[in-house]
Amino acid sequence: MENRVYTVAILGVGARGGNAYGKLIMKKPDKFKIVALCDPREDRLSHFGEMFGVPATERFTSEDEFFLKKRADILLVTTLDTLHVRQCIRAFKTGYDVLLEKPITDKLEECRELLDVQKKHGNRALVCHVLRYAPAYMKLSEILDSGRLGRLISMNWTEPVGYWHQAHSYVRGSWRNTDISAPMILAKSCHDLDLIQFYAKSRCRSVSSVGSLAFFNEANAPENTADRCTDCRLVDSCPYSAKRIYIERWHGAGEPADSWPYNVPVMAPVTEEKLYEAIRVGDYGRCVFRCDNNVVDNQLVQMQFENGVTATLTMNAFNIGGGRKVSFYCSLGEIYMDEKEIAVRPFGAPEEHIDLSEIEDIDYAHGGGDAKLIDSLYGMMSGDLRMVTTLEESVESHLMGIAAERSRINGGSLEYIHS
Ligand SMILES: NC(=O)c1ccc[n+]([C@@H]2O[C@H](COP(=O)([O-])OP(=O)(O)OC[C@H]3O[C@@H](n4cnc5c(N)ncnc54)[C@H](O)[C@@H]3O)[C@@H](O)[C@H]2O)c1
Repeated sequence: MENRVYTVAILGVGARGGNAYGKLIMKKPDKFKIVALCDPREDRLSHFGEMFGVPATERFTSEDEFFLKKRADILLVTTLDTLHVRQCIRAFKTGYDVLLEKPITDKLEECRELLDVQKKHGNRALVCHVLRYAPAYMKLSEILDSGRLGRLISMNWTEPVGYWHQAHSYVRGSWRNTDISAPMILAKSCHDLDLIQFYAKSRCRSVSSVGSLAFFNEANAPENTADRCTDCRLVDSCPYSAKRIYIERWHGAGEPADSWPYNVPVMAPVTEEKLYEAIRVGDYGRCVFRCDNNVVDNQLVQMQFENGVTATLTMNAFNIGGGRKVSFYCSLGEIYMDEKEIAVRPFGAPEEHIDLSEIEDIDYAHGGGDAKLIDSLYGMMSGDLRMVTTLEESVESHLMGIAAERSRINGGSLEYIHS
């Protein structure tokens, strides 16, 4: 193992590259040093450049200038969905090992190309499937692997997206339209597909899927309502009102200066004045029934794995949100997990309840998964591969998402993954 300080460059210093991973990496000066940043947004470059101590000469608004030479050991590719593969290939060819944001892509041929380039150039790469590393999901793996519940037969997953999160990200925000982002089954649920495949311990044989954009369109707009929430008669009563989602919730959350989702429409430090101006004129103040969104607000996927395990996944906007709800049905017992606990129910024996607040790291996002992912990045670099997922494995679960979307578009057709 090679335990040294690895230099890091970040391509795309937004919510993930800057606020999530950049800040976590800064807390580990014995392991990483951030040395270069690239982002076309000058405000973000200077905000995070100052925060991470990156000199002005190593902050780039131009991707081409940034890629003129290799500037660090590791490159974080944390731009938006449609740029990932092109930039990751560029990074591999420049000689970087890469931390790549999910989803990798929604295109089969791009998955293959990425693996080919990686093989040719021999780079290391880790995809940000943060939940794989979260303590609660690792605990589930430990219980299943112990064998005390027998053989896994089937899984049932629910991803309650939450009404305001759907409005923020998938109606008004960056993941609203497949012209600019991956379809929602990959953008939101590639974590679920990755975990389902991980627990199934097998390649997926086939999937089918149905789903639609049922609610967030003009046909459902209440009468006499405006294009922007700040001009609308329902500004104080509609649950999707931007004023309620950004300003009222921000007050309710204790007026944080720099926290998601409030730091998306405005740069930190967040203030009520900045939020109000952003929703008065910007994308995040648009009526949810009159946006340019086309991604689904509900989708079901059913899967069968080559070893016979089956699984269903429900992704749905119409709930208050919160954690995933997951059931495992095994030959000798069942497991249920929600945002509060894991219940282990062996047949004919007493139940065991594991309180998640005792194992999760609530100081970090995704139940501690973000922080553990950064530990895994160090493991990948230093040769401790116990917690490292390969790019091939991550591509495999993306194939399930790509096939699910193809099935949904075809009205629920049965799609084979490896025909
Ligand atoms: N792993 C997770 O759990 C998780 C959670 C949320 C989002 N994501 C994914 O992370 C990615 C980034 O999301 P985000 O919320 O940080 O988005 P963001 O918009 O906050 O950040 C993306 C940044 O990339 C910059 N950018 C645009 N073009 C660029 C270019 N050519 N070169 C360099 N930078 C460029 C943008 O200016 C922006 O600052 C998305 O693909 C998203 O799906 C992952």
